[in-house]
Amino acid sequence: MSTHPQGASGARLGLADLAGLKRDGTPIVMVTAYDTPSARLADGAGVDMILVGDSAANNVLGYDDTTPISMDEMIVLARAARRGTARAFFVVDMPLGAFQVSDEDAVRNAVRLVKEAGADAVKLEGAGLMVSRARAIVSAGIPVMGHIGLTPQSATMLGGFKAQGRTGAKARQLYADALGLQAAGCFSLVLEAVPAPVAARITEALHIPTVGIGAGPGCGGQVLVWHDLLGINEGRAPKFVKRFAAVAAETRRGLEAFAAEVRAGSYPAEEHTYPISDAELEIFDSEVAPGVLAGDDWL
Ligand code: KIV
Repeated sequence: MSTHPQGASGARLGLADLAGLKRDGTPIVMVTAYDTPSARLADGAGVDMILVGDSAANNVLGYDDTTPISMDEMIVLARAARRGTARAFFVVDMPLGAFQVSDEDAVRNAVRLVKEAGADAVKLEGAGLMVSRARAIVSAGIPVMGHIGLTPQSATMLGGFKAQGRTGAKARQLYADALGLQAAGCFSLVLEAVPAPVAARITEALHIPTVGIGAGPGCGGQVLVWHDLLGINEGRAPKFVKRFAAVAAETRRGLEAFAAEVRAGSYPAEEHTYPISDAELEIFDSEVAPGVLAGDDWL
């Protein structure tokens, strides 16, 4: 028997399947992906949700943080990831600037992510005014995933990339924000960098599933960034990151082996080349034999 749930109405997972995982107490597995091969691998591995996060900004596009990435950049990456996604529920992040200005702007940009990038749902960071944005997008018929706790788009306001909800008052505010986003119609919430007991209490209070990143095991599921979990990013990482593979090290090994074999002349070997029959080679040799044609006659 498969260990991965299948969508009720076919291969693709839908909102009802995600709600079913929460009901059954089965943890939801979510991972970011930003291109076709990674989405195909994640989908084939049976993850439940693929997120084209705005973390593509720093993980793929070389920006320092997530704030500069544009809608157009998100759409190029999401279209690629969508092509690799057959089964997982496919969520695309709304980047900074795509939903802060007005409800109308938020709906317009969410519609773009569905129509142009094939999003099943969009994710947006924050509460407060953003609850209204979430409600407007849901009213337009597009599922919304909320994201509270450490919200990297507003890291400056939060005093940096720090855990959130670490005082009674701040935890209470997160709890209220979560209930507000649920009431606005969000189908799920990401809880990022929140003390585990706070995330567990929020998760228990909600009927929609939470997906944690740095929020402990009491969430309804877990998400990690592709480049973190696979060890493509090396060096310092947030406390919650666990590296499940060492892809950067393996990539380096492969590249160094390629360079060494090219330089030693051992690659390409016979088996990497295409044959030509002796008869055809003889014809060719007679054409290029010295004196048959002058150099300029070839032009
Ligand atoms: O952009 C992102 O990768 C995210 C995850 C960390 C949840 O929002």
